Amino acid sequence: VQASTLSFNVGLSKIAEVSERARVLAPKFEKSTGKPFIYFQRGEVGVATPPFLSECFKKAIEKGCTKYPRLGGEVAYLDAVLADLAASGITGLRREHVMACHGGQEGLELVFSLFRGKRCAGFTPAWSCLFDNIFPYADIDFVSVPLQADAEKGWAFSPAELSRTLAAERVDVFYLNSPHNPTGTVFSPEEVRQIAEICASHGVTLVCDEAYRDLVYVGEHFSPLALESDHIVSINTFSKTMAATGFRIGYVACRNPQLIQELMLGNYTQTAGVSSPTQHAFAEALRHPDLPAWKKAYHADMRQRAETLTRNLDPRLGAVSPQGAFYSFINVGLESAEAEAAAVERLLEKGIAVVPGSAFGREFMGYVRLSFSTLRETLAEGAKRFSDAVVN
Ligand SMILES: Cc1ncc(COP(=O)(O)O)c(C=O)c1O
Repeated sequence: VQASTLSFNVGLSKIAEVSERARVLAPKFEKSTGKPFIYFQRGEVGVATPPFLSECFKKAIEKGCTKYPRLGGEVAYLDAVLADLAASGITGLRREHVMACHGGQEGLELVFSLFRGKRCAGFTPAWSCLFDNIFPYADIDFVSVPLQADAEKGWAFSPAELSRTLAAERVDVFYLNSPHNPTGTVFSPEEVRQIAEICASHGVTLVCDEAYRDLVYVGEHFSPLALESDHIVSINTFSKTMAATGFRIGYVACRNPQLIQELMLGNYTQTAGVSSPTQHAFAEALRHPDLPAWKKAYHADMRQRAETLTRNLDPRLGAVSPQGAFYSFINVGLESAEAEAAAVERLLEKGIAVVPGSAFGREFMGYVRLSFSTLRETLAEGAKRFSDAVVN
C-alpha cells in the first residue's frame, strides 16, 4: 500500500499545534517564574463528568448492554433524546427523525458528506475543525460570510449580505453555529428565524450546530429544529452540555426521515454505531433526577467564568463579552501570518497559550481566541497577564 493512498487532505488544527508547544513550554515557564501557565487554548470542559452519568454507564455494562447497537441508535437513547427535545418545546419528532452519532464531529462529517462537492456558506470566524477536517474530508467548497464585531452590539451579520451571498455564490447549504465558537455569540430567536427564512427563500439547507445549546448567559437559545422544515438539520452533542467530551455521543435530528436514513448508512459503514453502553448510559442520565441540579450548577459556574474573563480584560481591547459557549475572540491587531505566529510564540513565552485567529478564517488574522472553559482559579490572573502582554 502506498502511503499516499491512505492520506486525505485533512490536517491538524492550530489548536493542537499550540497545545503541543504549551506542553513543552509550560513546565519550564512555571519552574522559572513560579507562576501558573495559562491554558486559554483548550476547548475541553473544565468540570468533572456528572457522577450519576458514570453510574449510569457502569449500570449499562452490568445489565449487559454490550452488544452491537441498533442501526441508527438504541430505542432507549432515541426516546430519551426525543423526550429531552420535547421538554425544550421541540415537538412532532419521532424516532425516524433522529440518529445517534459519535458527538458533533461525526454528525457534522456525515451531514456534510451528503453535500459532497457542493457549496456551503457560513459565518466566519468559524470553528477551526470545519476548515481543517470536516470540509476537506467532505470535499465542501466553503464561502465565508464574515461577522462584524462591535464591542457594544456584539458580533452581527447583515441579512442583505447573507441573502446576496447565497444567491450569487449558488450556495447549497448554510452552516449556523449558535452559541458560537469562537466569538461566544448567541444569535437571537429573531435572527435565527431570519436566517432560516433567507435560506428557505434560496432553497438552501440549513445545518445547525447546537453543541453549546445549554451554555447561554445573555439572551436565549432558539433551535431552528422548532421550525417545521424538512430542510433544517440539527447536530447536537453531549460533549459540552454534560461535560462528557470523552464519551463521544450526540445526535442528528431532521424532520426529513430520508435524510436520516442516508446518514444511518454512513454511520453504519464507518463505525456500526455509537457504543451500546454509552447510549444506554445517556438514555438513563437524560432522565436522571440529579440532572437538572447538575446543569444549573454547571451553567452558573460557566457564567461566572465568562464574567470573570470580561471583568479582568483591559477595556482598551474592546472585547465583546461572551453571551454563550466558552470563548472570547479578541482583536490584537496583527497584520501578517508572520506577525501572528510571532505574537502567539511571544504569549507562550509569557505563559499564555491562545489560538491564533486565522485558525477560524483567513479574514481573522488579527484576532486570538481565548477559551475560559478549563480555567477557574487562574482565570483573572490570566486575563490580566494577557491584557498586559497585548495592550502595550
Ligand atoms: C462548534 C462546535 N461544534 C461541534 C463540536 C464537536 O464536539 P464533539 O465532537 O466533542 O461533540 C465542537 C467541539 O469543540 C465545537 O466547538
